[in-house]
Amino acid sequence: MQTAVYPGSFDPCTNGHLDIIRRASKLFDKVVVAVLINEKKNPLFTLEERVAMLKEATKALPNVEVCSFSGLLAAFMRDNGYKVIVKGLRAVSDYEYEFQMALTNNALFDEIETVFMPCSAEFMFLSSSIVKEVAKYNGELHGLVPPEIEPIIKRRFGY
Ligand code: PNS
Repeated sequence: MQTAVYPGSFDPCTNGHLDIIRRASKLFDKVVVAVLINEKKNPLFTLEERVAMLKEATKALPNVEVCSFSGLLAAFMRDNGYKVIVKGLRAVSDYEYEFQMALTNNALFDEIETVFMPCSAEFMFLSSSIVKEVAKYNGELHGLVPPEIEPIIKRRFGY
């Protein structure tokens, strides 16, 4: 059974993330969405909120599981017997950092392979930061995030 881990901050999860999760869930037996407990990044949403939003957004995908991790991704992979990381790539600008992380993860645990998936063209522009910027000014979130989590994001910004 081949499991892929899709790691990220997901602050909040976007339709771009969901697109990668959906497509990865067709390629792998199981997809583990691993939410980083990132104290340093000072996320807008708590870990519990980020996990709950992802669980809601992926509830129709039976082979997708949502969990959290802290510290090094490579250690999380090794400790749980996972060997494949899935990452979405938007533009060439994503590539340099993602390539560096893929090599670092492989240097830390040489059984790790990183599989890059190009994001769907319609989500090229999308990021969690863009979603937060739009939500801050009460802009339209439809099409940017899964509909189930729109109200949660709006509420956080007081709308
Ligand atoms: O959604 P993000 O913030 O772009 O996700 C980045 C993430 C969580 C995949 C990355 O920061 C990560 O793996 N962090 C854990 C620490 C680690 O293992 N870093 C890579 C080696 S430098």
